Amino acid sequence: MTVPRLRKMKREGTRITMVTAYDATFARLFDDAGMDILLVGDSLGMVVQGQDSTLPVTVDEVIYHCRAVARGTRRAHVVGDMPFLSWQVSPEQALTNAGRFLSEGGAQSVKLEGGVDAAPTIERIVRAGIPVMAHVGLTPQSVHAMGGFRVQGKTEDAAERVLDDAKAVARAGAYSLVLEGIPTDLAKRITDEVDIPTIGIGAGPHCDGQVLVCYDLLGLTPDLKPKFVKRYAEFFDEGVAAARRYRDEVRAGTFPSEEYSFGNVKKSETPASPSSLSLVRDPRASYGPKG
Ligand code: KIV
Repeated sequence: MTVPRLRKMKREGTRITMVTAYDATFARLFDDAGMDILLVGDSLGMVVQGQDSTLPVTVDEVIYHCRAVARGTRRAHVVGDMPFLSWQVSPEQALTNAGRFLSEGGAQSVKLEGGVDAAPTIERIVRAGIPVMAHVGLTPQSVHAMGGFRVQGKTEDAAERVLDDAKAVARAGAYSLVLEGIPTDLAKRITDEVDIPTIGIGAGPHCDGQVLVCYDLLGLTPDLKPKFVKRYAEFFDEGVAAARRYRDEVRAGTFPSEEYSFGNVKKSETPASPSSLSLVRDPRASYGPKG
């Protein structure tokens, strides 16, 4: 899945599907499901690390997760999310950091949160041949400036500002644009007025695509149920039930039964040859990195 293909999808009216992923197993799950884009989001700070915002996440941490996701992905486009202060200090530092997501992380593009103010930086990164996905509206890295995770663009003036942000990042060369936490009609207006694909989260149905945090989509965040999240599974409840069954069987001595054991030592004078050793875990050798 390439940048030109994603742009063509907008022209053809084919909706783009995107989800976050943070490791190779989830990447494989979503890649097998036919997802177009896997975002290694700085949301990992909240769902993987248990922080209460995305602010503590570092470039090295996102790159670590990018590498894992790239290994589990065959078809989808992998995007590395630039964390807080990795691009804001200077365009040159932003370019150096952006490059690392591709050269070390195996991503194919980067995402950064910002509008008019980020435009010169986006231009610099794009000129170096690194595709940039922009992100406007509710930008979680500005949580303190926004006074919390609040819907943006709710008044006419505020909506104009979000529209200006969207147009500025499109002019700067971003290839796509996440619209987060904005009213439905504003997201439609932006989608109609910019020629790059818009990908919505809490932005209604008129965007060119949609993104969800994978833990939300799969029902792994029991204490959190924002209005815009639809849970397509209840993995947390199923996981707790499975773990209880495991605990009960271990306590009862019914696991592992013979079916899950390697039998007894065979009495033999010759040592076992390597080919007669049982295969303990099947290495998924054919499921390696792309390329
Ligand atoms: O970090 C993230 O997961 C994101 C998505 C919510 C778009 O930025």
